[in-house]
Amino acid sequence: MESESPQQPDHNAGPVESPEPLSKNARKKLLKQQRWEAKKAEKKAMIKEHKKREAERKKREWEEKLGSLGSEEERQKLIESRKGLRKERMEKRCEEKESKLERLNNARVNGQNIVIDLEFSHLMNPAQLNSLVQQIMYCYAVNGRCPCPAHLWLTGCQGEMQSQLQRLPGYEKWVINKESRPYVEAFQHQKDNLVYLTADSETELDDLDPKKVYIIGGMVDRNRWKGITLKKAKDQGIQTAKLPIGNYLKMSSSQVLTVNQVVEILLKYLETGDWKASFFQVIPQRKRCGTGSEDNEHDTEEEVDGEGDELEMKRQCIETQGP
Ligand SMILES: C[S@@+](CC[C@H](N)C(=O)[O-])C[C@H]1O[C@@H](n2cnc3c(N)ncnc32)[C@H](O)[C@@H]1O
Repeated sequence: MESESPQQPDHNAGPVESPEPLSKNARKKLLKQQRWEAKKAEKKAMIKEHKKREAERKKREWEEKLGSLGSEEERQKLIESRKGLRKERMEKRCEEKESKLERLNNARVNGQNIVIDLEFSHLMNPAQLNSLVQQIMYCYAVNGRCPCPAHLWLTGCQGEMQSQLQRLPGYEKWVINKESRPYVEAFQHQKDNLVYLTADSETELDDLDPKKVYIIGGMVDRNRWKGITLKKAKDQGIQTAKLPIGNYLKMSSSQVLTVNQVVEILLKYLETGDWKASFFQVIPQRKRCGTGSEDNEHDTEEEVDGEGDELEMKRQCIETQGP
């Protein structure tokens, strides 16, 4: 019988065999991954450098302004006025933070349940996982800014996905339900209320029902896994629905949107009750027909679509932390 224990290298044996050479595809993938890592590091360094230069510029400007004043008394006055402005800004931020927290905590009781299903992590490469994490961060920030936020859930949150989320600043204090269980378990007593949103559904969503729990597939796949969420929902006996995009606008490519776009559309609809306005405000022009944009091939699902840069998003996520 063959032994199942791990084999130890035999140092007396002949030359050790070199590891299997990578296939062409694997080499391509590895190269792509390395390029992505390098680009990410470069971008991070650029942002850091820019921040440093901005801080230096502001410091210089301040010193010049102070230096241009004739008397010590005038200088003190300027310093005091700057302190006052800073204090005002801090107080305003604190108030905003408190009101955000209040809205988010209310949403946990009365808000529309929206689930991001994180059970597809194993189908994504590191770059796609990272992109999904950025999208989730964006969803959280947008929800915090909303006048009527939703009750957001992350279900099936485990493994590498969880580790990446945990690395986000302030994540542990986010006012969001983090569930390692799949949504079918977390909502086991409300199975009839579960609605999986998927562009492949034959049913169109006409309104949002406060009793229902809307599920969004946590995926960045450029629709490589077409139909995967529809199949999953069907197998589980769960209702499905697609956003009624076609009734209001023509898309230049498919109607498959990113996770953050879907969340943002739902949030806008909760606020306005108007699908058309929600689609027009969230779906980028380049994805709509007849806008004369030719850059669709560069339309990457791996980018977070929406205003604000990554740093601003991070700031808002930290600000919407719990107490
Ligand atoms: C990038 S898509 C993932 C596409 C994936 N291949 C699939 O089969 O769902 C992310 C998620 O956003 C939601 N979604 C995207 N476009 C949608 C639409 N037009 N209607 C409803 N849900 C949509 C779905 O929940 C989807 O799983």
